[in-house]
Amino acid sequence: MMYHYHVAVEWDMQLRFTDDVFAPENTCLLDLLERDPTRGVRCLVFIDQGLAQADPALPERIHHWFAQHEDHGVHLAAVPQMVDGGEQAKDGLAVAEQVGRCCLEHHICRHSYILILGGGAVLDAVGLGASLVHRGIRQIRLPSTVLAQDDAGLGVKNGVNAFGNKNFFGTFQPPWAIVNDARFLRLCHPRERRSGLAEAVKVSLIKDADFFSWLAGHARHLLDEHAPHLLEEAVQRCAHLHLQHITSSGDPFEHGSSRPLDFGHWSAHYLEVLSQHRLNHGEAVAIGLAWDCCYAEAINRLSAAECEAVIESLHDMGFALWDPVLNLRDAQGERLVYQGLEQFREHLGGNLTLAMPDGIGRRRDIHSYQRNTGEWALNRLRQLQTRLCRTQATGPCS
Ligand SMILES: NC(=O)c1ccc[n+]([C@@H]2O[C@H](COP(=O)([O-])OP(=O)(O)OC[C@H]3O[C@@H](n4cnc5c(N)ncnc54)[C@H](O)[C@@H]3O)[C@@H](O)[C@H]2O)c1
Ligand SMILES: [Zn+2]
Repeated sequence: MMYHYHVAVEWDMQLRFTDDVFAPENTCLLDLLERDPTRGVRCLVFIDQGLAQADPALPERIHHWFAQHEDHGVHLAAVPQMVDGGEQAKDGLAVAEQVGRCCLEHHICRHSYILILGGGAVLDAVGLGASLVHRGIRQIRLPSTVLAQDDAGLGVKNGVNAFGNKNFFGTFQPPWAIVNDARFLRLCHPRERRSGLAEAVKVSLIKDADFFSWLAGHARHLLDEHAPHLLEEAVQRCAHLHLQHITSSGDPFEHGSSRPLDFGHWSAHYLEVLSQHRLNHGEAVAIGLAWDCCYAEAINRLSAAECEAVIESLHDMGFALWDPVLNLRDAQGERLVYQGLEQFREHLGGNLTLAMPDGIGRRRDIHSYQRNTGEWALNRLRQLQTRLCRTQATGPCS
C-alpha cells in the first residue's frame, strides 16, 4: 500500500523601510509585533558588536524605545545581548548556543520575538539559534550593513560555518519581518557600503535592465554622503528583486540546481578564500561579475558594449576588478580560482549550473564552462581594467 500526504507550508514575511527605528516616536516595530491584549509580548534583542561600536548609544536607545511603548504591551525580556560581529560569529555553534541559553534564562516562549540587529554574519548565526529554540522563535531581522539590507538579511536561510565549510549547519526558516533602517547604512564604513552595491549590480543584470541603467547612471554618486537617498534607493530596489525572486521562483528551499542569485559567485567565493578574506564578499563578487560578463560576451550573451558598460559601472563605484590572487596557479599551471567551479558543482550535487545574463536584465543558465573561454574573458577583463585606469588614476586604480 502506498500513501501520499501533502504538507503545505505558507509563510508571510514583512519588509519595512524606515529611518531610525528606535526613535521614540517610530512605530514601525510596534506594528510588526503581534501581541496578546492582556499579557503583551516579550522581545529578546541581539546586537552585532560592530554596530554597537559604531553607535554606542544604541542599547540605551532600545531600552528607551521599549519603555516608551510599554503601555502598548511590548516588553524587553532582558538587556540587549552583544554578539561579536563579522565571520567569527559563524564559527561553529557557539552563537546559536548563546541564543539558546539566553532564551532559557529569560523564559522565551513561542509567542516571543527575537530581534537581531547586525551584519549578515550575525543575522545568520543568531537566526540559526532562533530557528532551533522550541523549533523556531519568530525572528525580526534588522540588517545593519548594505549587503545585509539588500541581500543577506532577506533570505529564508540561517547558518554557520563548520568543519572548514561555509554554512555547513543551517536551517530554512524565514524571518517574521525584515526592517531596513537607513540610519544603520549611514554608520557603515565606506568600504562596507560599497561592498553591498555589487549585489545590486548582480541582481539588476539578470532581472532588471532599468535598474542596471539607473545604477550605471548613478555609479559615481551612490556612495556620496551628501546624497544618501541614492544608496537607499539602490538598497530598496535590490531588496525587492531578491525577495521577489525568493518568493516567486518556486524553489525557496533550493532543491533544484539553478541559483540565479549566485550569478558571479562561483569565482567570488573562492577569491575570498584565496585572498584569505582580504577581499570582502562584495569586492570578490564585483570581480566575479566582471569576469562572468566578459565570458557572457564571448558566448554572445552580451554585446561588447553591454559588457563594457558593466565593467565601467563597477569601476565607477570604486571596485578594483583585478586582483593578484587571480594569478595564483597550482603545480600544473592551472589557475587556482578554477577550483571554485568544482566546489560550486559539488555544492549543487554534481550538475554544474551557472547563471549567465542573456542580454542585460535577463538570465539563461549554462551547464558547462570552457576554460579557454574563461581565459579569453579574463584577458578581456584585464584589458578593460587597464584602459579604465589609464584615464583615471584615483579610486580603484591608485
Ligand atoms: N542567509 C543568507 O541568505 C545570506 C546571503 C548572503 C550572505 N550571507 C552572509 O552574510 C555575511 C556577510 O554579511 P555582511 O556583508 O553584512 O558582513 P558582516 O556581517 O561580516 O559584517 C561586516 C562588519 O561590519 C560590522 N558592522 C555591522 N553593521 C555595522 C554598521 N552599521 N556600522 C559599522 N559596522 C557594522 C560587523 O560587526 C562586521 O565587523 C556572510 O557570512 C554571508 O555568508 C547570508
Ligand atoms: Zn553574495
